Amino acid sequence: MVKKNLAIFISGAGSNLKKIILSTLNYNFPAKVKLIVTNNPKAKGINFARRYSIPFLLFNEKKKLEEIKLIKKIQNEKIDLICLAGYMKILSSNFTKAFRNKIVNIHPSLLPKFKGLNTYKRVLEKKERKTGCTVHFVNEKLDDGNIILRKFLYVDKNDKEETLRKKTKLLEHKLFPEAILKIISSKNS
Ligand code: GRF
Repeated sequence: MVKKNLAIFISGAGSNLKKIILSTLNYNFPAKVKLIVTNNPKAKGINFARRYSIPFLLFNEKKKLEEIKLIKKIQNEKIDLICLAGYMKILSSNFTKAFRNKIVNIHPSLLPKFKGLNTYKRVLEKKERKTGCTVHFVNEKLDDGNIILRKFLYVDKNDKEETLRKKTKLLEHKLFPEAILKIISSKNS
C-alpha cells in the first residue's frame, strides 16, 4: 500500500497529533505523518515530533515569505492532506486556496453550531443536551467548510467546562483518525 502523506499543524498540547501518529503506526493505516508545523515554539506537541522522529518546523503566519516557503515545502514533500489539530491561527486565503480540499480541521462542537472560540462555555450557557466534535474541510471562513465526520456526547447536568473538555477530547481522539481514513478511502474509490 502506498501511504498518503500527512502534515499536522498544532499550537498546543498535541494530544490529537499523538493519536494520529499512533494510528499511523498501524501497518494497515493508509497514511503517515511526514511533517509537523507549529506557530508556537513552546507547543508541547513538538515533543511528539521529537519522540517519533518526525520533521517539524516553526511557522510565523504573519511573515509572507515564510508562508511562501511553507507552501513550497508542502508541495515538495508531496503532502496529500493537511490536518489542523488544535492550530489556533487562521490561515490566509492564499494558503487555503493553494490546498483546496486538502486541509481539514477539528473543532470541539457539533458544527455548524458553536463556531469559534470558548465552545464549552457557550454550550453550557445554551444548556445544550448534546455536544461533540467535528472534522471538516477548511475554506476561507472560520469553522465553515464541508463536514466530513462528527461524533456526539450527552451533556451531563453536572458538567463544567473542564469535564466537557475532557470528554470531548476523548471523542476527538477517535474522530480524527476515522475522518482521515474516510477522506483517503473516498479519494481512492
Ligand atoms: C482540540 O480540542 C481541538 O478541537 C481544538 O483545539 C484542541 C487541541 O487539543 N481545535 P490538542 O492540542 O490536540 O490536545
